[in-house]
Amino acid sequence: CGIVGYVGRQPALDVIVAGLKRLEYRGYDSAGVAVLADGGLASARRAGKLVNLEKELADRPLPAGTTGIGHTRWATHGGPTDANAHPHLDNAGRVAVVHNGIIENFAALRAELAARGHQLGSDTDTEVVAHLLAESCPSGGDLAAAMRLVCRRLEGAFTLVAVHADAPDVVVGARRNSPLVVGVGADEAFLASDVSAFIEHTRSAVELGQDQIVEVRRDRITVTDFDGAPAEVRPYHVDWDASAAEKGGYDSFMLKEIAEQPRAVADTLLGRVDAEGALTLDEVRIPVPELRAVEKVVVVACGTAFHAGLIAKYAIEHWTRVPCEVELASEFRYRDPILDRRSLVVAISQSGETMDTLMAVRHAREQGAKVLAICNTNGSTIPRESDAVLYTHAGPEVAVASTKAFLTQLVACYLVALYLGQARGTTWGDEIRAVIRDLAGIPDALERLLATMEPVRALARSLAGQDTVLFLGRHVGYPVALEGALKLKELAYMHAEGFAAGELKHGPIALVERDLPVVVVVPSPRGRSVLHGKIVSNIQEIRARGARTVVIAEEGDEAVVPYADHLVRIPAVPTLLQPLVATVPLQVFACELATARGNEVDQPRNLAKSVTVE
Ligand code: G6P
Repeated sequence: CGIVGYVGRQPALDVIVAGLKRLEYRGYDSAGVAVLADGGLASARRAGKLVNLEKELADRPLPAGTTGIGHTRWATHGGPTDANAHPHLDNAGRVAVVHNGIIENFAALRAELAARGHQLGSDTDTEVVAHLLAESCPSGGDLAAAMRLVCRRLEGAFTLVAVHADAPDVVVGARRNSPLVVGVGADEAFLASDVSAFIEHTRSAVELGQDQIVEVRRDRITVTDFDGAPAEVRPYHVDWDASAAEKGGYDSFMLKEIAEQPRAVADTLLGRVDAEGALTLDEVRIPVPELRAVEKVVVVACGTAFHAGLIAKYAIEHWTRVPCEVELASEFRYRDPILDRRSLVVAISQSGETMDTLMAVRHAREQGAKVLAICNTNGSTIPRESDAVLYTHAGPEVAVASTKAFLTQLVACYLVALYLGQARGTTWGDEIRAVIRDLAGIPDALERLLATMEPVRALARSLAGQDTVLFLGRHVGYPVALEGALKLKELAYMHAEGFAAGELKHGPIALVERDLPVVVVVPSPRGRSVLHGKIVSNIQEIRARGARTVVIAEEGDEAVVPYADHLVRIPAVPTLLQPLVATVPLQVFACELATARGNEVDQPRNLAKSVTVE
């Protein structure tokens, strides 16, 4: 799941292991390195966390070299064992390769190689590439040319990085779908799944496009397509702060990222509102007449970003009066959705690399729809392949479970909804200015809220022995309930489910028994008082059946007090914006509960930060 390659003057292993640590957040279950030294190639691989590999390297040091590759693997083909860990070598031990993605025709290639006398020792799809490269690149040959030859034979999604003992100053990368970026330093160069692996060394990066091969030397980068035609090299500057990728005194990245939310929200609003308080989204390069012609909006996303999409629907339909569907990206293209040039597809993705979402984007564009990406990662694939992009400015999010990215996705969705409303004349200047003012007040509201989280932590600790927690919400509180439940599954490995409170009576209420914790997200009693009254009844219904109610309600809402076993206050904000504050206690709750259960908060089991396979 994480790739690092290095060629330069520093000891390659130090640079690579440090880079892999920076990529740990992507999630993995084994790790390995290979280094070119003394005319040969040496490698080490270990299942489990990077410390296992470091221990192995301390016990059995590899020779020192200045060219090498490393990998953290998230198991797809074959379990997370030492033998399946990358790098994979050819039989002569001259070629080493690491890989992200899935090579779909690996079984046929494997059979073919076996028939030619190759011995394959792992269950992985990757190993075939090492053998094919060795065949295509006999001694002294051109590794980049061999890589081109091999890539033309591969089906599926792959990012490959390889070294050859006969080419001691070269690292070669190939990219189809899964991300790969080049870092260009002074007399050194890097290849990595993302820039965090090398930002402590250089901020000059080069993005690689689809189906490109890169040959990296310490003083030269050569990019071609799979046929060898030269490709344009597109350099960019990485403006992320290196310290943003460090814990900075917090116990976990997740805690740090929860605390960063006021700033992340403020940064995402920055520069998008003019001096008069009106909306200026110049980045959305879809011409106004086309926005006016939009007949339907479809939001596609996965995981937490999908929950942002569910909330976006309320805002988009409210401010634009255009019908809006929200679909899990992984389901979208397989049901042959009805799209044309009057459809606007909004793809939400923190990483910009989620394969399911990318495939949905490609499908939408093939059908003629316009695609607007909401993304947190500059230079990533989804924005590159979309018609326009609105970047969230959350800064790097390292913890696997998304927090600050979610809040900034919500902000971006509100801005898109207002912008669309403005373009179509369904929302007017005064209303837009009022919402922008409310949004501008959110960072302060979040600061205040974050200062009151101690009782939520205490409550979470007291529930560490529970098996199940249910979450209820209505209107925009419903996706918030889903997100609260997802966080608990991801982090605490507990059975958690979110329901629409009105649906309770149609089934879920059968689950309620004595002492079952039920978290209820209560809508504001102002504005949508009908909903408020209904949810207060729901709380009474579950409490009458013995549930232990955890009520999330805005300051000043006294009606809920008699029915709340635990009351969590959130700042009063307009209904549509309430998810920006209501989600925060649920993040804190899940994080603390996971810690109390002894789980690793930043890297939950089996999960990956950026899922680049379908
Ligand atoms: C993974 C992560 C989730 C995330 C989802 C979508 O499953 O574990 O936290 O919400 O991917 O990621 P994206 O980068 O597309 O927002």
